[in-house]
Amino acid sequence: MPLLAFGWIIYDLLCKSPFGNDNTRLMVALYFILVAVAWGYTQLFTGRAAFLHLGAFTATIMSANVFFIIMPNQRIVVADLIAGRTPDAKYGRIAKQRSTHNNYLTLPVLFLMLSNHYPLAFGTQFNWIIASLVFLMGVTIRHYFNTRHANTGNPTWTWLATVLLFIVIMWLSTVPKILTGVPEQVSAAQQPFVTAEAFPKVRDTILGRCSMCHAQEPGWEGMIKPPKGVVLETDAEIANHAREIYLQAGRSHAMPPANVTAVTDDERKLLVAWYETVVNGGKTQ
Ligand code: HEC
Repeated sequence: MPLLAFGWIIYDLLCKSPFGNDNTRLMVALYFILVAVAWGYTQLFTGRAAFLHLGAFTATIMSANVFFIIMPNQRIVVADLIAGRTPDAKYGRIAKQRSTHNNYLTLPVLFLMLSNHYPLAFGTQFNWIIASLVFLMGVTIRHYFNTRHANTGNPTWTWLATVLLFIVIMWLSTVPKILTGVPEQVSAAQQPFVTAEAFPKVRDTILGRCSMCHAQEPGWEGMIKPPKGVVLETDAEIANHAREIYLQAGRSHAMPPANVTAVTDDERKLLVAWYETVVNGGKTQ
C-alpha cells in the first residue's frame, strides 16, 4: 500500500514539474519508470505476485488520475463556464495529459490483472521484459484507435509493431526457458525410478494430485511458493523425491493435506509399489 501511494506521488510530481511540459518526453520517462518497477517487483516476488502488484501499481495511478486530477479539473471548468468566466486552458490540458496516460495503460492493466491465468508470461526470468513489452503494446494498439477516432490518419504500422511485440513476447515466454533453464537432472541413483515400469502412471498421479501445489508457480489459490521448496513437475524432480513421495503420500496420508485432491487408495498403493519395487531391485514384496 505505501508503495502504491508513493508511486502515485512520484508520478504526479513528475507530471506537474516542468519536465512534464513535453508530453513525449514525459511519456518516455514514465515508461522507463514502469519498466524499473516491473523489474523491482520481479526481484521481490514470484512472477505471479509481481504481475499482480504491477497491475495494482498501474491501476492506482489510473484511478488517482481520475479522482484527483481529471474530475476536479472538470469541476473547475464547469464552474467557470456557469459563472460566465473563461476557464484557464491549463485545466483542460492537464486533464487531457492524464487521460492519455490512462488510455495507454488500460490494456496492459487488464492483461496484468488477468495474468494469473498465463503462467507462460510470468513463469520465466524474463517476465519483467514481457511486462514492459505489454506496456508498449498498450500504446501501439491504442495509438491506432486514437488516431482513427481523431480522423488524423490510418497508422497501419501500429499493427505491424503490435504483431512484432507479440512474437517477441511469445518467444521470450518459451524459448529462453528451454535454452537457459537448467533442468534438474536425475541423479544416477534415482534413475531407476524413472525407468520403472510404473513410472508413467506415477507421473500422471503426481501431476494430477500434487503439482498444483508443488510447482515453481503453484496454481493453488493463495499459494505463492512451492511448499517446503518441494517441486514435483518434471520426471527428474519426481524421481529425486521418490522416497519423500513414498513416505508422505504412499505409506502415510500426510499428503496432500486433508487429501484435498482426493488421492485414491489405489493411487497410494501404486506409489508404494513403484518405490518398493525399485529399492528391492525389481521385486515386488
Ligand atoms: C493443497 C496443496 C498440496 C497438495 C495438493 C500436495 N501438497 Fe505436499 N505439501 C503441501 C504443504 C502446504 C506442505 C508443507 C507442509 C508443512 O509445512 O508441514 C507440503 C509438503 C510436502 C512435502 C515435504 C514434507 C516435509 O515435511 O518435508 C512432500 C514430500 C510433499 N508435500 C509431497 C506431496 C505429494 C507426493 C503430493 C501428492 C500426492 C502432495 N504433496 C500434494 C501442500 C500440498
